Amino acid sequence: MSRRIAVLASGRGSNLRALHAFLSRAGAAAPGEIALVASDKPEAGALGFAREHAIPCAVVSGRADAGAEMSALLREHGVDYLVLAGYLRLVPAAVIAAFHGRVLNVHPALLPAFGGRGMYGDRVHRAVLDAGARVTGVTAHFVDEVYDRGAVIAQWPVPVYPDDTVSSLAARVLRVEHVLYPRAVAAVVAGRVRLDAAGRVEGTIAPPSPRAAFTLDDSSDADLAANIDRALDV
Ligand code: GRF
Repeated sequence: MSRRIAVLASGRGSNLRALHAFLSRAGAAAPGEIALVASDKPEAGALGFAREHAIPCAVVSGRADAGAEMSALLREHGVDYLVLAGYLRLVPAAVIAAFHGRVLNVHPALLPAFGGRGMYGDRVHRAVLDAGARVTGVTAHFVDEVYDRGAVIAQWPVPVYPDDTVSSLAARVLRVEHVLYPRAVAAVVAGRVRLDAAGRVEGTIAPPSPRAAFTLDDSSDADLAANIDRALDV
């Protein structure tokens, strides 16, 4: 049975688009469908995308104490999984508790490095550059009550070059987000990767070889997707 996914997004929604495209390409084999897009920002590009594609959408308050409001919305739309895609608010604790192992997020760095409260968007890449890190990456993870703390589902490395700016680095990382995150979401929604009661991830996703990062710029999107597909073969 196709699972119902709600996407929460505060911004432009490029990860929402990537997930939508991935599930559409999978057709009948897709483990789930996007049944709702919700945002705390009425002007979010993600909501515009939802309207264009006739996906039900809603504006939520974004307040951490508005658990009853969000729970009611998710119930109304029969939501099974909550996928955060650039959602800048904490998901209310009541919702996290009710959706144990069914709330996911993508972060544009290798957690636990460069994460936590206030670390989002360009601030993450600025911090990576300021730290002089040579490798950053993408993390798909389960969400708990603390920003960027939940168990890791999948990670992929991305090189940092000496002449990188925030925008060149953000673009290189975003390209990987768009490939890795839909696959991590699909693995969880299909039940191939699970969070157990103790908070451990079952269904190991093989880590990519370090070389994968440094061949990234030479690889086509199809090669990148094939590499990530191989690593996610759980
Ligand atoms: C992405 O970089 C994601 O990792 C982070 O927020 C950004 C959202 O971008 N959580 P978009 O709205 O999906 O384009």
